[in-house]
Amino acid sequence: MENVIEISNLDYSYPDGHRALSGINLEIKKGEIFGIIGPTGAGKSTLLQHLNGLLLGNGEIIIDNLRVEKKNEKAIREKVGIVFQNPDDQLFCPTVFEDIAFGLYNMGFTSREVEEKVTAILEKMNLSRLRELSSHHLSFGEKKRVALATTLVMNPQVIALDEPFANLDYGNIMTVIDMIRQLPITRIIISQDILLALSICNRIALLDKGKIITVAQPEVIAANTHILKNAGLDYTPYLQLIRPWGFDFHKN
Ligand SMILES: Nc1ncnc2c1ncn2[C@@H]1O[C@H](COP(=O)(O)OP(=O)(O)OP(=O)(O)O)[C@@H](O)[C@H]1O
Ligand SMILES: [Mg+2]
Repeated sequence: MENVIEISNLDYSYPDGHRALSGINLEIKKGEIFGIIGPTGAGKSTLLQHLNGLLLGNGEIIIDNLRVEKKNEKAIREKVGIVFQNPDDQLFCPTVFEDIAFGLYNMGFTSREVEEKVTAILEKMNLSRLRELSSHHLSFGEKKRVALATTLVMNPQVIALDEPFANLDYGNIMTVIDMIRQLPITRIIISQDILLALSICNRIALLDKGKIITVAQPEVIAANTHILKNAGLDYTPYLQLIRPWGFDFHKN
């Protein structure tokens, strides 16, 4: 399958000198659900912000045959939509409608087109009720879904979601999973919920201390308890913790 993202020798240090990414090489295929897992501070969010030029490190990133660099910024941002870890970083307009409309106006759509597109995405995501509310008054789960809508409405070729399931109830998690699965585009998901990531991704990169430890299929990662344990991501004690309550994971 064709690569839609190619990252070569990417290094990034924050202005305070902290080296957050070292020698990242990664290829992501068109249409796959690609997971990025790793402990807190591994560099996952930093890596994601390189995909549309929000951060520019050393090395090379090619997206759909276009190099990520300042002069291609507009075209790259049309191709790649990022949903931030914290929805408050994404929502800044007086109303939900305006937050979702913002990027469309920037892309040059007419008022009528913006109105149509925003109305359609609000309906699709079951958010119409929130249309005229201020994003600041929404619950966290609602904010997360509005933030997702601001990105999806732009119709990107690649969507990168930073912790899309964090702090959501199980109903909302399932809604977001269904949406992600149905999108006919390349999807990149960062998640601390390793079990969820293993369940829904086609391939997964394990990141630790700014480096890629391995890229493999979920079943390979799941079986490699050694590397998971080394990265502090051994989930088997967690499974043991909930098992005494008698859940049978294989029923139904
Ligand atoms: N603006 C910044 N200035 C300096 N260091 C930063 C900055 N942002 C992040 N870092 C550091 O870079 C490293 C990687 O951070 P990053 O946010 O990418 O981690 P992460 O894997 O997304 O973690 P989490 O799972 O907690 O979200 C961390 O050690 C963090 O402290
Ligand atoms: Mg993060």
